[in-house]
Amino acid sequence: MSSENVLEVKNLRVHYTTARGDVQAVRDVSFSLKRGETLGLAGESGCGKSTLGYSLMRLLPANAKIISGEILLEGENVIDMDEVMLRKIRWKKISMIFQGAMNALNPVFTVGDQIAEVLTLHEGMTKREAYEVVRELFIQVGLDPSRIKDYPHQLSGGMKQRVVIAMALALNPSVVIADEPTTALDVTIQAQIQDLMKRLQRRYGLSMIYITHDLAVLAEVSHRVMIMYAGQIMEIGDVVKIYKRPVHPYTKGLIASVPTIQKVKEKRLISIPGAPPDLVNPPSGCPFRLRCPFAKEICKEKEPPYVNVDGVLVKCHFARELADVSPEEAWESVFEKYEYETV
Ligand SMILES: Nc1ncnc2c1ncn2[C@@H]1O[C@H](COP(=O)(O)OP(=O)(O)OP(=O)(O)O)[C@@H](O)[C@H]1O
Ligand SMILES: [Mg+2]
Repeated sequence: MSSENVLEVKNLRVHYTTARGDVQAVRDVSFSLKRGETLGLAGESGCGKSTLGYSLMRLLPANAKIISGEILLEGENVIDMDEVMLRKIRWKKISMIFQGAMNALNPVFTVGDQIAEVLTLHEGMTKREAYEVVRELFIQVGLDPSRIKDYPHQLSGGMKQRVVIAMALALNPSVVIADEPTTALDVTIQAQIQDLMKRLQRRYGLSMIYITHDLAVLAEVSHRVMIMYAGQIMEIGDVVKIYKRPVHPYTKGLIASVPTIQKVKEKRLISIPGAPPDLVNPPSGCPFRLRCPFAKEICKEKEPPYVNVDGVLVKCHFARELADVSPEEAWESVFEKYEYETV
């Protein structure tokens, strides 16, 4: 394990048992996270982003199982850990800002008590000591310390989200997973929380996995990005390289679908037609082939390898051929065909 990597994930597979069969939510995912780096994770709803996040914390629901793989957190395999070990690393070494967590704050305790509890339980602090830290955390996340004794319902959405962020940072973890930390908020507050995340990132040198389906946000916060589809990483690499020259047809499609004023004016707000496949029976070969304008026979027959295109890894048989096709060019004909149905 390279010492600059705080996290290394190798060939991770995670399934959910359901009455319909196993949902293959994460299918052979590998990546690493460098110390101080923010890795952005994007992809359509249901592609496995949260499942991947929960797996790293080993906080999966009871019907989930890790089928195979390694999750090396500062060199130690999280998959081999028992509950006692896990309790030692959760919050302290790896923490998560859960999707929708601000609505899951306990209504019967003050927000100060809820953060203080993390500190008393895990660090053995007295309540008084914990409150000192909570006060400091409040200032860091832009909350007035006078709100410590407030109950969740007394706070606005943005303030509650700040509480949740403070909780995730309370034990100074090596890795923070932020799962859609701004999605439930209105646009102005979203921007404020994004600024806060960037500030915290710089101040604490956080190593972070930032999950969002908003590509504009992703570009703002990430050093590298990974694009996930049907449980697999389709493209992973430097943020500037990927936004300048997205190689995978899926990444090109996501970027071509980002709304701009121009597109709104011309009534050309389009998204990739169709929906991700059912993960109980994922398609053979490349899962994106069913929606891909460039799909050929080989895409059905053979799972694509990762192709290195100028340092960016792309899971596509035609990565080299398609590298310089612009997102608009790649999707123009498809979008034109669907324009009237989707606008
Ligand atoms: N507890 C569960 N039991 C069964 N299937 C589940 C469970 N949780 C998630 N899934 C399925 O696993 C797949 C991945 O879901 P996941 O929540 O990880 O996606 P996501 O990328 O986080 O989506 P979103 O953008 O909507 O948050 C989906 O097909 C989903 O329906
Ligand atoms: Mg999710």
